[in-house]
Amino acid sequence: MRRILQTNALPKAIVFVLCLVPLGLLLWDGWHGQLGANPIEKIMRRTGDWVLYFLLLTLTMTPLRKTSAWRWPLRYRRLLGLFAFFYVILHFLNYLVLDQFFAWDEIVKDIVKRPYITVGFTALLLLIPLAVTSTDNMMRRLGRDWKKLHSLVYIIGVLAILHYLWLVKADNRTPLIYGALLLLLLLFRTPWFDRLWKLRRFQAGGQTVADRRL
Ligand code: HEM
Repeated sequence: MRRILQTNALPKAIVFVLCLVPLGLLLWDGWHGQLGANPIEKIMRRTGDWVLYFLLLTLTMTPLRKTSAWRWPLRYRRLLGLFAFFYVILHFLNYLVLDQFFAWDEIVKDIVKRPYITVGFTALLLLIPLAVTSTDNMMRRLGRDWKKLHSLVYIIGVLAILHYLWLVKADNRTPLIYGALLLLLLLFRTPWFDRLWKLRRFQAGGQTVADRRL
């Protein structure tokens, strides 16, 4: 048991199962006919929401690590990112199979003519190389390029917000709130924030060797 806890296998397994709960609830509601009058739209919305939540959660891990003594956020970053990919695949499959029923002409027309589909589809395409290169082996092979490639996640975040903003018809408060959250998370990653954070710790008396390089 101690070994399992030390290798983080158990907490990771728990987080893994928790990440599957939205899918479980969706299947449950579908099975019990609780997806309302337009189940396809409901699935589209629920999976879309979860792609966004997982993207934002993934982007929260680095700032959380930076601003706390915790090490665990970085351990779950990859898992959360992969779940964002998993839910976007479900989101897209729902569109492709249930909504459009493989009407390729219509799909291409949508991608070209509807800006919210264009950006959503671009975000999906950009997520593919990130998912493919998320293994330790690929991380080693790509070296410094891995970090560069994975900074695409910021662009994906912006595209996800644009997708949401452009698809809502009237009340755009929810996508704007997520947009503000994303902006905050992106600000945490700027060198400007790093300097500010080190200064704050320095003033609080928590000076470290690294901080003295300021
Ligand atoms: C990273 C990529 C994506 C993210 C983060 C995302 C996120 C979302 C979100 C948050 C919603 C709205 C949920 C709500 O109303 O509560 C949504 C709806 C939708 N998304 Fe996506 N999506 C992505 C990719 C795609 C792709 C690739 C397609 C299709 C090619 C797509 C098609 C749609 C459609 C058709 C809707 C429903 C629009 C409506 O209700 O009228 N999305 N998506």
